[in-house]
Amino acid sequence: MQAVSRAIATNQAGPHEDLARRVSRALQHPLRKPIADHTHQAFEVAHRWLEGRAAPLILDAGCGVGLSTRALARRHPGHAVIGVDRSADRLSRDHGALPDNALLVRADLVDFWRLALRAGWRPAQHYLLYPNPYPKAAHLKMRWHGHPVFPAILALGGGIELRSNWRLYVEEFCLALGQVSGIAAEVERHVPEGDYLTPFERKYHLSGQALWRCHASLPYAPDLLPLS
Ligand SMILES: C[S@@+](CC[C@H](N)C(=O)[O-])C[C@H]1O[C@@H](n2cnc3c(N)ncnc32)[C@H](O)[C@@H]1O
Repeated sequence: MQAVSRAIATNQAGPHEDLARRVSRALQHPLRKPIADHTHQAFEVAHRWLEGRAAPLILDAGCGVGLSTRALARRHPGHAVIGVDRSADRLSRDHGALPDNALLVRADLVDFWRLALRAGWRPAQHYLLYPNPYPKAAHLKMRWHGHPVFPAILALGGGIELRSNWRLYVEEFCLALGQVSGIAAEVERHVPEGDYLTPFERKYHLSGQALWRCHASLPYAPDLLPLS
């Protein structure tokens, strides 16, 4: 695969000026979007699978074609690894058999995270690897830390790791995480050294772009998401 990826172009000079207000709003106002039927059904399948394994959970949110889900399952054979993505096309690409301790789920994360929280899921580790950046300032609300579902992501607790090729996305995520949890997380450089966890990680690195991460250990805090 030829790795050519253009650097992010944004009209933001620094963290979005509306970030703190949006995070406060998400903490105060319930997210009223109804849960889609297909995600309900997909979640039930995942829930039964997880109960059957009785192993600590690793969640790979926005797993794309599922290569990271496979790699994490091989690295952590004592864990149950669930990759979630809304793209049936990406999930259906043939990347070989799934390890026994891995599951790929087609679902909308905005619903899936809320169902996971309601069901009492507590991932040991939660990855958000190279989410769509939405770099225009007007699209803040589409970045995970600007979205009303953000409190649910953090409420699940455990280790959380976000990676991006856009430093500002990671900086905003760290700021929002600090606002919600009081935990000071720093933007760190991520150097894969040939060991790529995802296709986007590989593509960006081979295009000469720097990669960034935000990592934190969060308490389980189900009350963070306001009730609807
Ligand atoms: C830029 S790709 C990164 C994929 C993979 N993590 C990687 O690094 O190669 C972002 C992925 O997030 C998924 N995604 C975006 N919004 C989503 C949502 N609301 N629910 C589920 N998946 C979503 C997209 O379908 C896409 O596969």
